Amino acid sequence: MSKVARIARKFVLQSHPQGKPKLSDFKLVEEKLPAALQEGEILTKAQWLTVDPYMRGALLALKQGETMMGSQVATVTESRNPEYPEGTKVVGSFGWRDLTVHKPSEKFNPLDIYKLPDMKGLPESYALGSVGMPGNTAYFGVTRILEPKAGDVLVVSAAAGAVGSLVGQIGKLKGSRNN
Ligand SMILES: NC(=O)c1ccc[n+]([C@@H]2O[C@H](COP(=O)([O-])OP(=O)(O)OC[C@H]3O[C@@H](n4cnc5c(N)ncnc54)[C@H](OP(=O)(O)O)[C@@H]3O)[C@@H](O)[C@H]2O)c1
Repeated sequence: MSKVARIARKFVLQSHPQGKPKLSDFKLVEEKLPAALQEGEILTKAQWLTVDPYMRGALLALKQGETMMGSQVATVTESRNPEYPEGTKVVGSFGWRDLTVHKPSEKFNPLDIYKLPDMKGLPESYALGSVGMPGNTAYFGVTRILEPKAGDVLVVSAAAGAVGSLVGQIGKLKGSRNN
C-alpha cells in the first residue's frame, strides 16, 4: 500500500449565506489524510459532486469550518475493503471534497455509499441527477405514490427543476396529459 502523504481539498462553511450564496460563504481548505488505510476503509477520488436545493436549508445545521455535505460519483483508488476493490465506481455521501477516506457501513445504506450501477452508456454524472436522487424522487413519486392513470391531467407546481422536469416526462410516458 502507498504511504505517500495525501492531502484532500474540501469546501467548508465559512458563514451561513444571507440572500444568494456567495463564494465567500465557503472556504477551500486542505486536510491531511492518514498515510495508510485501516481494515475496511477505502480511499476515493471524486469525479462529480452535487449542488442540491436541499443544501440551502441543510447547511444551517453546519458550523463554521464543517465540510459541505453532498453526494459524489467517485472512484476507489485504494482499498482495504473486499466489497469495494480498487477501480470500483461508487456514489457516496462524502461532501464537497476531492479525496475521501471512508469506511462503508456493513449494512447496505444508499445514503452512505453504493456501487455505481451499469449506466448502459449514460454519462456517470447522471447517477447524481436523473438516475440518482432527484430521478428516484420523481420516478417513485409518480409511479408508487401518485399512480396517474392514462388520460389524467398531471399538474407539477414547479416543472422546470431537476425533479419537476422528470415528473413531467415520466407522467407523459404513463399517458398523463398536461392540459
Ligand atoms: N423528498 C425528497 O426525497 C426530495 C428529493 C429531491 C428534491 N426534493 C425537493 O423537491 C424540490 C425540488 O427539487 P429540485 O431538485 O427539482 O429543485 P430545482 O432544480 O431547484 O427546481 C426547483 C424549481 O422550482 C422553481 N421555483 C422556485 N421557486 C418558485 C416559485 N416561487 N414559483 C414557481 N416556481 C418556483 C424553480 O424555478 P427557477 O429555476 O426559475 O428558480 C425551479 O424550476 C426541492 O424543494 C427539493 O428540496 C425532495
